[in-house]
Amino acid sequence: MVREWDPRTASSAEIASLLDTLNAVLAADLPQDPPWRANSLREYLSEVMPGERRISWIAQEDPAPDGAPGAIVGHVHVLLLGGIGVLEVLTHPARRRTGIGRELVRVAARRAWDEGFQSIGVEVVGDTPAVAFYEALGFTREYVETRSVLDLGAVDWPALTEMDTGVGAGYHVEFCPGGPPDELIEAYARAKAEVRDMDDGELRPSSYDPERLRDSLATLHRRGMKPYIVLALHEQSGEVAGLTEVVVPAQHPTRADQYDTIVVRDHRGHGIDRAIKARMLLELRSAEPEVAEVQTWNAQANESMLKVNAELGYRPDRDWCEYSVDVAELVHRLDSHR
Ligand SMILES: CC(C)(COP(=O)(O)OP(=O)(O)OC[C@H]1O[C@@H](n2cnc3c(N)ncnc32)[C@H](O)[C@@H]1OP(=O)(O)O)[C@@H](O)C(=O)NCCC(=O)NCCS
Repeated sequence: MVREWDPRTASSAEIASLLDTLNAVLAADLPQDPPWRANSLREYLSEVMPGERRISWIAQEDPAPDGAPGAIVGHVHVLLLGGIGVLEVLTHPARRRTGIGRELVRVAARRAWDEGFQSIGVEVVGDTPAVAFYEALGFTREYVETRSVLDLGAVDWPALTEMDTGVGAGYHVEFCPGGPPDELIEAYARAKAEVRDMDDGELRPSSYDPERLRDSLATLHRRGMKPYIVLALHEQSGEVAGLTEVVVPAQHPTRADQYDTIVVRDHRGHGIDRAIKARMLLELRSAEPEVAEVQTWNAQANESMLKVNAELGYRPDRDWCEYSVDVAELVHRLDSHR
């Protein structure tokens, strides 16, 4: 049975059942990824940025003869933001190819349609059944990134310490656990805005103005995701010349996520990229000793960043693709399949 579901009011047993299914999905599709924990999972599923909404449905098995609620074997949520709905769907590996995924997408697409959304996007992990699934539903591939993973156990720490000190004269590197200090928020947002045109992908939006940046940091914290930032400050102007962001999620705290790394155009060629990334890893090692790996996503065309990542020891892991579909076409296709 598929029904709308609100993680804010769901029972702890439902949250635990969804976690079991999520971990079964990871074990089947991404066996190298660490399993998720229950820590802040409810908040991860509920909290959104101001102005955004996330609507969820579950596929639940029938109750047991003794009345115990059935397991959650499928889940979908659609995040409604700007002009696009971003979808995430999963079906327990033991229940796949029975139409659950298609039905979950159908209800979510119908809602997006009713709410006036024209386009739905989804992130699809290469080499998993999701590729054939979304292609069967008429989604088309828009964009491909490479996910790379760094094993901190294999890092050359002395080499990293050298990179950390390799920043050119006139720059000062600063570690900011929790987020940039308030007095630097505006300069930070300016640095992000400068590379907006080069920014790749739409499903992981960055924050370009100070207000949105504050909201985005607060939302991360509410979702149980702790941001760490390293800044390169241009001493003469006080401008943020470079920044790198890593988030440690309570749900999988052994594997951190690398978010944006930016070196502002006028400040390139001073070793900032290497220095801020090296400093981040050195700081992370003492601030978050549980972190064993860091994962990052890069456009395949971004050769300079891929080069620095390779020097640091990142290894390419998977294609990470963005697919999208016209909502009217999707609704029509799924309704006529019933
Ligand atoms: C993608 C996913 C949701 C599909 O769920 P599902 O319940 O098996 O999908 P359905 O049974 O509704 O399949 C619908 C159609 O998609 C296509 N399809 C789905 N899985 C497929 C596969 N493994 N190979 C080929 N086609 C496939 C088929 O056309 C299928 O129709 P059919 O069975 O009548 O031929 C499921 O595989 C899944 O949970 N994947 C993990 C997604 C995820 O979150 N990944 C990120 C973390 S790992």
